[in-house]
Amino acid sequence: MTPREGETETTGKMYSILILNPKGGAGKSTLASNLAGFLACWGVRVTMADFDAQATSLDWLAARPASCPAITGVAIQGNVLALRQPTDYLILDVPSGHYGEDLLPWIRQADRILVPVVPSPHDIRAARRFLDWLATEERVEQRYKSIAIVANRVRENSRSFKLLKAFLGSAHLPCIGILRDTQNYVLAAQHGLSIFELPNSRVRRDLQQWQHIVRWLCVDASMYPDVPVKPEQSVYEAIYNITAR
Ligand SMILES: Nc1ncnc2c1ncn2[C@@H]1O[C@H](COP(=O)(O)OP(=O)(O)OP(=O)(O)O)[C@@H](O)[C@H]1O
Ligand SMILES: [Mg+2]
Repeated sequence: MTPREGETETTGKMYSILILNPKGGAGKSTLASNLAGFLACWGVRVTMADFDAQATSLDWLAARPASCPAITGVAIQGNVLALRQPTDYLILDVPSGHYGEDLLPWIRQADRILVPVVPSPHDIRAARRFLDWLATEERVEQRYKSIAIVANRVRENSRSFKLLKAFLGSAHLPCIGILRDTQNYVLAAQHGLSIFELPNSRVRRDLQQWQHIVRWLCVDASMYPDVPVKPEQSVYEAIYNITAR
């Protein structure tokens, strides 16, 4: 996103990641805060733009301990963004309940879009309608390769996960991550942390799940050329090394 006149220029390229799903409670803010926490731990500058009047992301930042890597928060009214500080990554947390045309200003600002989907019949039907709109909306077409699904709150071996898998098999977009339903996200949210800032022994499985999302978002050289994953290292090792012990 290009800063407007009078705003601070970033020193390099800034990447913006939009977390989008019109359905409430899909995990947009959870994905946004954990992604922000991950990038902050990684050592890049992160700004969260909270477009939601519920201010979930800003509340999370307010609860964040001062000892944790800093994340800048910006409250936004409407869809006009004014950045006052340079940043490497911008994460857009947007409210539910917006459809069609209303989503285009956010979509246009994003380099990458993640669509969290929860495995429930209601959420799957709503997601199908939303993805169908994305697929047929010609103003989204050129961004299509930059959009992916993240299955969220998954319980293996559940009926709802079977339904979700069937849906994902027929979806036009790739599913690049499966996040389990775990109180780790609740615990982290409570304390203004990401799961990357919880003890490694507690979040081992979650870190494994996140490596696929990180790879899709960051290891692509066009997204962030200085990502510190050494050639001999897996993304999982890199994530593991930057997180709390
Ligand atoms: N993987 C997960 N495991 C357990 N709980 C989760 C997970 N993801 C999200 N949650 C919980 O689900 C609830 C909804 O998540 P969240 O607020 O991130 O959704 P949202 O899409 O931002 O909602 P809204 O549309 O209201 O903005 C929260 O209580 C959150 O803690
Ligand atoms: Mg939210």
